[in-house]
Amino acid sequence: MKNIVVLVSGGGTNLQALIDAENRGEIKGGKITCVISSKTDAYALERARRAGIPTVVIPRKDFYSSKMYSEAVLAELQKQNADLIVLAGFMTILDECVTKAYPYRIINVHPALIPSFCGEGYYGLRVHKAALEYGVKVSGATIHFVNEKADAGAIILQGTVEVANDETPESLQKKIMENVEWKLLPKAVSLFCEDRITIREGKAYVDV
Ligand code: GAR
Repeated sequence: MKNIVVLVSGGGTNLQALIDAENRGEIKGGKITCVISSKTDAYALERARRAGIPTVVIPRKDFYSSKMYSEAVLAELQKQNADLIVLAGFMTILDECVTKAYPYRIINVHPALIPSFCGEGYYGLRVHKAALEYGVKVSGATIHFVNEKADAGAIILQGTVEVANDETPESLQKKIMENVEWKLLPKAVSLFCEDRITIREGKAYVDV
């Protein structure tokens, strides 16, 4: 059984999707053993507690630099014996001390079709605002491994939705969460825990 540690900062609907999938027996070979939050008041913490999952809060605001913050997160991940780290709405970019310690073992969900609308500064509703400002007709979400560059690691799964003429950032966010993120994140986590993701020349392939 792989130990899955989930990192959160906000509402935690993706964490909830993972908890629900685990309860349905859909995370094969893995178990969520800890939830780490960068914010003391994240509702995701409540979701974890209700599911009986141990929680740790490491507030980003208590650390001077991203490097110092990442070192604290790394220490906790090691303490938790993490096999897989899932960034589920985690709004802090981790320093390379973490990404280098866990190559191809950190999975992130990004609410756009990478390489569009991604990288530093693109998070949460900002991503959907940017997509609508550009006038895209499809958008979606990407589940990918995390490396040293923001949103640039190997893509595992992507899914799309159509953008309606009267779409708002809020409605697009909801559509992408419901139709893509909450389905593909648990799927990618299970594939990882079943050892069904192969890396070749820096790209991820799902074994069929
Ligand atoms: C999700 O849409 C997730 O894709 C996005 O923030 C939201 C978190 O919601 N993540 C990012 O933008 C990371 N760059 P949640 O807390 O309800 O899961």
